[in-house]
Amino acid sequence: MQTPIKRNILLNPGPATTTDTVKYAQVVPDICPREKEFCEVMKKVATGLVKVVHGDERHEAVMFTSSGTGGVEALISSVVPVGKKILVVINGAYGDRIHKIARIYYPENQVLQYKIPYGGYPDVSAIQKIIQKNDDISHIAVVHHETTTGMLNPVREIARVARAYGVLMIVDAISSYAGIDIDIEKDGFDYLVSTSNKNIQGMAGIAFVITAKEKLEKLKDIPKRNLYFNLYDQYISQKKTGQMQFTPAVQVIYALVQALSEFFIETPQKRFDRYRLSWEVLVEGLQKLGFKLLLPLSTQAGLITSILEPDHPRFSFESMHDHLYERGYTIYPGKIADTHTFRIANIGAIDQVDMRHFLAELKQYLETNQIHLTH
Ligand SMILES: Cc1ncc(COP(=O)(O)O)c(C=O)c1O
Repeated sequence: MQTPIKRNILLNPGPATTTDTVKYAQVVPDICPREKEFCEVMKKVATGLVKVVHGDERHEAVMFTSSGTGGVEALISSVVPVGKKILVVINGAYGDRIHKIARIYYPENQVLQYKIPYGGYPDVSAIQKIIQKNDDISHIAVVHHETTTGMLNPVREIARVARAYGVLMIVDAISSYAGIDIDIEKDGFDYLVSTSNKNIQGMAGIAFVITAKEKLEKLKDIPKRNLYFNLYDQYISQKKTGQMQFTPAVQVIYALVQALSEFFIETPQKRFDRYRLSWEVLVEGLQKLGFKLLLPLSTQAGLITSILEPDHPRFSFESMHDHLYERGYTIYPGKIADTHTFRIANIGAIDQVDMRHFLAELKQYLETNQIHLTH
């Protein structure tokens, strides 16, 4: 039996709490990642990653050693043909980040945006009008679960519009993958990007793009705009050698094998249900304590909750954070410029019992500081 590792409850939006079995999966004999044995591990991971979104042998998961942003950068920089435009949907910090990446690689006139305030709900017909007006848009990029606010964007509806106009759909599923059921084909996601350290419950360090091999093959003639993050080159490297082009995060990949295995053993539906129940317990508890949520429940993904900071003289995010942190719970500040919020995620290897304990500690913080929130 391996020694249990101190369990911290991470309620930040990833890296998420992991099981000890995932942590210990990293403790393996040293291996050169160019060896066949490791290529087989890579293959196993890629197959598992594709399976999570109901893909099959027609799909590939192209992996990079990087955080999620690296995966987004690989995707955005590698797919838009010369002279074509990309439309970015922005209603949070991660939409803004996609736009920022696009502007680094493409001139201003090739990058369009549909931008609404953070927390606003995208109007699919307005997006459709932009596509109608610009018949040279080749790609549209949307964040699935906008982690800034907790909003579930209408990606399926946007994908339907995109398909009708022959526009390819790029989905930043970094904080939704393995936490919400995604069917890459049925949902109409042409490219999906995610990461190892959120709902799949692995370690930080691997980003991956999932798409059809047929689409990857078509990237051959697109000019290379970078070296490390070129999607086509990385795909060809995986296809021909079974390896990443450059040194992979070997131990993180071993942890990902274990995390994927635990996802399928738990079963996808039970993972989604566990997250959902934790979220329901969380929002009910928060509301009982008198906290107000940023978004109506109907537009939330149920994976992270944005809460308005109470306007009370004895309340501060820092003191609340420190009180909780000392007791093993990590919470996260907000990311919205003009509204004071904080965020609590309900992802990772935690459940509703942890959430109830967390709520008890939060209640204790309020009581200790004599903070009475009005309902
Ligand atoms: C939707 C979304 N996109 C992109 C990122 C960036 O990922 P990373 O911090 O791993 O670079 C995050 C991180 O939380 C995210 O939630």
